[in-house]
Amino acid sequence: MTLPTRVKLVEVGPRDGLQNEKQPVPAAVKVELVHRLQDAGLTDIEVTSFVSPKWVPQMGDNAEVMAGIQRKPGVRYSVLTPNLQGFEAAVKTSPDEIVVFASASEAFSQKNINCSIAESIARFAPVVEAAKAAGIFVRGAMSCTVGCPYEGEVAPERVDYLAGLMKGIGVQHVGVADTIGVGTPLKVQRALEATLKHYDLNDVSGHFHDTYGQALANTLISLQMGVWQFDTSVAGLGGCPYAKGATGNVATEDVVYLLHGMGIDTGIDLDKLIDAGQFISDFLQRKPNSRAATALLNKRAA
Ligand code: HMG
Ligand code: MG
Repeated sequence: MTLPTRVKLVEVGPRDGLQNEKQPVPAAVKVELVHRLQDAGLTDIEVTSFVSPKWVPQMGDNAEVMAGIQRKPGVRYSVLTPNLQGFEAAVKTSPDEIVVFASASEAFSQKNINCSIAESIARFAPVVEAAKAAGIFVRGAMSCTVGCPYEGEVAPERVDYLAGLMKGIGVQHVGVADTIGVGTPLKVQRALEATLKHYDLNDVSGHFHDTYGQALANTLISLQMGVWQFDTSVAGLGGCPYAKGATGNVATEDVVYLLHGMGIDTGIDLDKLIDAGQFISDFLQRKPNSRAATALLNKRAA
């Protein structure tokens, strides 16, 4: 078993997390969260998305949030762009990376971005081209790679097909997402293997929602395959507005605890990360959805 010695975590709480909150979160709170995350050592932060505010009103303050961040050298700030209109708005805010997002299941593609998989790829192609011409890195998110809220189980062949399409239009890195957190390790392994037919190990990451409590196990099997990049969400924030019942991504705190316990470096200060998680949880008037954060906060209080 060869495990990576260092892992990169992409913090997606400000986007994947806060896109799903019912109560409005002011831009200033989002900016403060990003500042706390970068102070905790996160080097990759998915800040917001340039999607339709009619579809996701929570991200309607995208430009304001991007403008409010005091950028820290060495940190990569990414944003989601579903089409050229979103890209053109995003590029004015100087992201380091954009994310195009497609689905391995047709039904989720329709519900989430109102078009088929093939149409979405045709939409992304000019976005990818424009981003690369502007020197912006292009990441792709592949949703529903093991299960779909509308179609049920998703076969690895669907992931193989989508990863090939993503590669074909020049997407530089892809995330294998278990959008609704139904995956278990062997299914996730098969989705990763399908992706690795098209992408190098260094260009693939895991994006695991924790709805069924499987995300850490899914992270571990990915690590055992050599995957060393994961999207995680501070305090376990989030879900997807078009995947009802799905909870947030695996908590960043839990993954950092796992990795550090295995002697794997992340560059992240767990105490400061827990403070960042507590800051946003206090604002949302709830406890952090992270077992490690809860345990360590209890220990602090004792
Ligand atoms: P549409 O309605 O088909 O778009 O939506 P349209 O091109 O027909 O335009 C309709 C209206 O939307 C027009 O305005 C456009 O200007 C406007 P109107 O003339 O009616 O006033 N519009 C936009 N406005 C702002 N920004 C834009 C934009 N594009 C069009 N970029 C669209 C298609 C893709 C826009 C819509 O379906 C959408 O915004 N979907 C986003 C849904 C979303 O954000 N989902 C969550 C993120 S994905 C996720 O969470 C999964 C992930 O975490 C991985 C995983 O876990 O699986 C990444
Ligand atoms: Mg997600």
